[in-house]
Amino acid sequence: MAVGIFDSGLGGLTVLDAVSKTLPNQAFVYFADHANAPYGVRTSDDIYELTKTHVTTLWNRGCDLVVLACNTASAAALRRMQEAGVPERKRVLGVFVPMIEALTERQWGDNSPPREVAVKHVALFATPATVASRAFQRELAFRAIGVDVEAQACGGVVDAIEDGDMILAEALVRSHVEALTRKMPKPQAAVLGCTHYPLLQKTFQDALGPGVTVFSQANLVAESLSDYLARHPQMGGDTGDVAYLTTGDPSRVTDRATQFLRRQITFSAP
Ligand code: DGL
Repeated sequence: MAVGIFDSGLGGLTVLDAVSKTLPNQAFVYFADHANAPYGVRTSDDIYELTKTHVTTLWNRGCDLVVLACNTASAAALRRMQEAGVPERKRVLGVFVPMIEALTERQWGDNSPPREVAVKHVALFATPATVASRAFQRELAFRAIGVDVEAQACGGVVDAIEDGDMILAEALVRSHVEALTRKMPKPQAAVLGCTHYPLLQKTFQDALGPGVTVFSQANLVAESLSDYLARHPQMGGDTGDVAYLTTGDPSRVTDRATQFLRRQITFSAP
């Protein structure tokens, strides 16, 4: 059975790429809501409604497990969807927890009380909606104490990436890093809390300097999904086929995706 991977746009392809490498025999359906992207400037209610609608589409297409490969959707919708209750035998997971577990040196499912961890000063780069939700700080507080988080809302970066304007995207990243380091001069770690940002990981790392460990989600999510499917084999399986769906213009999205991942990726309408 295919696993659904959901994002507002192309960013989740960074996650899909990593999970397909870790799980080459697993089938996936990638669903991008380009018609309503970017999510990062929307209200939390809006993000919740859009995410719920598209996750339901993926469930109805037979994906029992859907991964929100989008921090903005994970921040605004995941907890709310889980609390409202999901249909029997269906699951939805997010991308926050695997990253926070890595940062706080925890194994999956370690629900022991929060404790001191090595990292004390963390810079979070994310969309305005993710920063406003404070979901990262909330999930971190369940697991660690004494960690100072400075969050930088990176307005404009997702739009520039989706438009293929990488020069603008890089300039914006440098200015967001500068704004962050004015508030927190010496972060020990930086979290790229948006699935689009790994496409600019080098720019973040160069602007932050070699002393800052940059945590990017794709590989962490891949490990965590592989672990989850080993424990819940009925949620995965099938062949290694991947289908790519977009609510936007499939030919435009196909061109951009092919340019980003440097291999042919063909999107179609859902
Ligand atoms: N890539 C998404 C994330 O991880 C959000 C991009 C958007 O603003 O739509 O947050």
